[in-house]
Amino acid sequence: MNREKYYKKLRWGKSPFIKSTSIDIPIVERKEEYAEIEESIGGWDRITLVTAPIGYGKTTFMNQLVKRKPRGIKYIVPFNAYEPVEEVMERIDGKIPFYAKILSQKSDRTTFGEYLNKKLGRSKMLLVFDEAQDYDLELFKWLRVVNDRADNVFMIFLGLQGLEDKITSESSFRDRKSKSIRLRPFNAKELDEVVRKRIKWVGGSGIKPFTDKGLERLCVSAGSVPRLLLDNGQRVVEECAMRDLFTIDDGLVEGILGTTKAVERPPEQPAAEKEQIETQTIERPQQTEYYDFMKDLSPTQADIVKLLLETESSSITELGEKLGKDIRSVGSLIRKLRGLNVEETQRKPNIPYPVVLQHGKDVRMGRLQYVYSLSDNARRLLSKK
Ligand SMILES: Nc1ncnc2c1ncn2[C@@H]1O[C@H](COP(=O)(O)OP(=O)(O)OP(=O)(O)O)[C@@H](O)[C@H]1O
Ligand SMILES: [Mg+2]
Repeated sequence: MNREKYYKKLRWGKSPFIKSTSIDIPIVERKEEYAEIEESIGGWDRITLVTAPIGYGKTTFMNQLVKRKPRGIKYIVPFNAYEPVEEVMERIDGKIPFYAKILSQKSDRTTFGEYLNKKLGRSKMLLVFDEAQDYDLELFKWLRVVNDRADNVFMIFLGLQGLEDKITSESSFRDRKSKSIRLRPFNAKELDEVVRKRIKWVGGSGIKPFTDKGLERLCVSAGSVPRLLLDNGQRVVEECAMRDLFTIDDGLVEGILGTTKAVERPPEQPAAEKEQIETQTIERPQQTEYYDFMKDLSPTQADIVKLLLETESSSITELGEKLGKDIRSVGSLIRKLRGLNVEETQRKPNIPYPVVLQHGKDVRMGRLQYVYSLSDNARRLLSKK
């Protein structure tokens, strides 16, 4: 049956696996990270960095802060993406109550810090900036001045790990940064809760159509990344709709997510970079203790893995340029590291596939490209050394 009919039968208003970060999406609260934020604010740490890889829940964490203001904060102003200084100024000004503003003269970007300081008095304001790795220096510089002039303004910058480098390169900002927090990967229980809350949110009952084991298997497939959980869940549900299946157990989940992974594809073309995000599961024995897989890789593969160990994520063109190799060959090696080449996985069974995951798109070297990073498992095994 078609998806619409399938959802209706389950009494779902829409798919629970919809990829969205709208403010009404149910949140599994990050208690530890939230407590750290409250602790920083209480301790008067005024600039905090929150970093995590793609799809870990940075934007959702911002929503959590907006929904429940940290202790002591009177005003919170969230920014979803980069905005120019004038825009930021206006958004902040919009939060200050009318009675406080009316007495003051208009301020401009140079006097804004003092203006804000006066207006806030003893009230604390929290500015939260998402996607901060994309901001330009001009905005950081201006915020630094605001930070110096307005004592009760707190700032949180959320972004990919590269954000840390970006902020430290602006040395005056580095000196003021007081804290860095890294979002924890989600455990199976938290992922399970994401699905339960979302099914309830769309009007469904319990974990239907999943069985306990089916849901458990789905959560395992996400390897601690919430966005991947949604990708995989959607994939399973669509397949089950097509086949009219209303009981999703572990075997079914495994069948759907496992087989799609092993499909062999034609040799890598640059255009193959456009392939869809795939399910990141593959059947293989447990290898929790094995970590010295570098020696099983080809020299170029080892170089790719080393580069990915040092960076959050890279596109094939970036890797090609750093290694001085043509991107076709890099692309093909990446496919192998992702476990997409069946022959290679059979030939080298000790490699914990997938070593590399595709994580959606990002602007690199001036254009939108697919980016790749090490799987959490590979990173964990390698960093054990
Ligand atoms: N704490 C959470 N509770 C419930 N769902 C979550 C949570 N964290 C993330 N998700 C879900 O996972 C998906 C990815 O999360 P989110 O968009 O917040 O990640 P991100 O780190 O901001 O990603 P990106 O790097 O692409 O900006 C979202 O659709 C979100 O609903
Ligand atoms: Mg985000």
